[in-house]
Amino acid sequence: MAIILLLLLSCLTPFQEAAADAFCDNVKVLAATLPNKTSSSPVHFATTTVGQAPDIVYALALCRGDILNDTACSQSVANTFGIVRNATPPDMECYGGTRYYAEYSILLYNFNDILAPSIYTNSTGDENGGDPPFERWNVKNVTGDVPLVAGLIRELLVETVEKAASATPRRFATGVMDSGTTFPKVYSLAQCTPDLSTGDCLACLNHLLGLINSTMSLRMGGQMGVIRCYFRYEASPFYQGQPMISLGPPAPTPGEHKRRMSKLWIIAIVLVPVAAAAFLFFILYSRRLTKQRKGTLLRLQGSRRSQDLEGEEELVWQGGNSEFMVFDFEQLLEATNNFSEENKLGQGGFGPVYKGKLTDGLEIAVKRLASHSGQGFTEFKNEVQLIAKLQHSNLVRLLGCCYQDEEKILVYEYLPNKSPMSTAVFPR
Ligand SMILES: *[C@@H]1O[C@H](CO)[C@@H](O)[C@H](O)[C@H]1NC(C)=O
Ligand SMILES: *[C@@H]1O[C@H](CO)[C@@H](O)[C@H](O)[C@H]1NC(C)=O
Ligand SMILES: *[C@@H]1O[C@H](CO)[C@@H](O)[C@H](O)[C@H]1NC(C)=O
Ligand SMILES: *[C@@H]1O[C@H](CO)[C@@H](O)[C@H](O)[C@H]1NC(C)=O
Ligand SMILES: *[C@@H]1O[C@H](CO)[C@@H](O)[C@H](O)[C@H]1NC(C)=O
Repeated sequence: MAIILLLLLSCLTPFQEAAADAFCDNVKVLAATLPNKTSSSPVHFATTTVGQAPDIVYALALCRGDILNDTACSQSVANTFGIVRNATPPDMECYGGTRYYAEYSILLYNFNDILAPSIYTNSTGDENGGDPPFERWNVKNVTGDVPLVAGLIRELLVETVEKAASATPRRFATGVMDSGTTFPKVYSLAQCTPDLSTGDCLACLNHLLGLINSTMSLRMGGQMGVIRCYFRYEASPFYQGQPMISLGPPAPTPGEHKRRMSKLWIIAIVLVPVAAAAFLFFILYSRRLTKQRKGTLLRLQGSRRSQDLEGEEELVWQGGNSEFMVFDFEQLLEATNNFSEENKLGQGGFGPVYKGKLTDGLEIAVKRLASHSGQGFTEFKNEVQLIAKLQHSNLVRLLGCCYQDEEKILVYEYLPNKSPMSTAVFPR
C-alpha cells in the first residue's frame, strides 16, 4: 500500500558558524535517537538537547495525536531527518535550524533555545521564537453558501481548539462539521505539545486562529503551526479514528413540531418564573446544606469547575429527583461509541441525538446540545431544572445531564418510538 506522505518543508536556516562540523555531528546523534525517543513516549512527544554550547542542538518532535502506532510515529520523524539531509546543498555541511511539518509528525531543531518556556508563555503571542508561523492554505475557496460554510468552519476550529486544549494526556482533538449544504463535510484537527497547560495551549492555538484574515477564512483547507501548537482543516477526511466533536447545521426553524411546541412554550413561559424562584431558593438552601452534608451531593466533573466557573454556581443536585444523574463525559463517550455516526439517531433543533448503552446495559438517548447555541452554564442549569420539573408521561424521561468543558448533554431513557428530538421544551 502506497502511503503518500505530504511533507511540508517549512524553514531551513543556513548555519553560519565556521564550527558547523561539531553541530552537524550533534544533529546526526539527534537523528539516530529522537525518532525512537518520540515513539517510546506514551504521548509521542520528546524534547532533547545534544552537545554543549556553542554547538548545542535544541530539538522537539511530536507525532500527530491520531497516529497511535509507535512504528509509524518513529518512521515519520526518521523520514523527516532523511529529507533534511537530502535537502542539504552540497556546499553546506548542515543547517542551523529546521522546522518541518510532516503529515504525521512535527520536527524542530535549532541552535537557538526553542524549548525555552518564555517562548510559549510570552504574552506578546510570539510562540515561534521570532519566526512567522508555518502556514499552508488550499488555493480554493469554499463554494455554495460561502458565509454559512466559512462561519461554520470558523466555529469548528474554535471548538476543536477548545477541545484540544482541555484534552489529556495528549492535547489533541479532531472534529467534523456538516454544513447541511452541498459543500462536503469539513474535518479539523488541533494539537499542542502535551507539556503545555490548558491555558497555554488555548492561548497558542487561539493566537493562530486570530491570524486567519478574511481572505484565508474562505479557503477550503488550511493549516498553521508554531513550535508548540498547530491546527489543520480539510474538506475531506485526513485523520484516523472517529471525530471527537461534531458540528451540525444551524438549528432549522421549527415547522412540523409547531403545534406541540407552542403548547410546551406556554408551559415553559408559565413555569420559568416559578422555576427560577424555586431554583434561587434551591441554590441558597443547598449551599447551606453543602457545608453540612458534603458527601451526599453530586457535583459536576471537569476542569471548568475550579477556573472558568468563577462567579457561576456549581451544578449541585440535592434531593428531589433521586434518580437524576450527573454523567461523566467519558461515560457518555463510551456509551455512544465516541458519538459515532452509527449511533446517531438524528439531528434535532438543538443538536444531534445519539443512541447509547451504559455499562449496566441501560439503553439511553443522548442529546448533545450544540455548543454554539451560545448558552452559558447558568442557562443550561436553568433549563435542566426546568425540564426536570416538566417530566411528563408524554415526554421521554430525562435521566440526567452532563456539563463538562464545552459539552452540554442531556441523557434520556431510550424508547424506540419516542424520540427526544421532538421534545422541544428548550426556550432559547
Ligand atoms: C527504534 O525502534 C525500532 C523498533 O522499536 C528498532 O527496530 C530500531 O532498531 C530502533 N532504532 C534505534 C536507533 O534504536
Ligand atoms: C504500524 O505501522 C507499521 C509501519 O507503518 C506497519 O508495518 C504495522 O503493521 C503497523 N502496526 C499496526 C499494529 O497497525
Ligand atoms: C516576548 O517576545 C517579544 C517579541 O519577540 C520579545 O521582545 C520579548 O522579549 C519576549 N518576552 C519574553 C519574556 O521572553
Ligand atoms: C477566493 O475568494 C477571494 C475573495 O472573495 C477572491 O479574491 C479569490 O479570487 C477567490 N479565489 C479563488 C481561487 O476563487
Ligand atoms: C492574509 O493572510 C495571508 C497568510 O497569512 C497573507 O499572505 C495575506 O497577505 C493576508 N491578506 C491580507 C489582505 O492581509
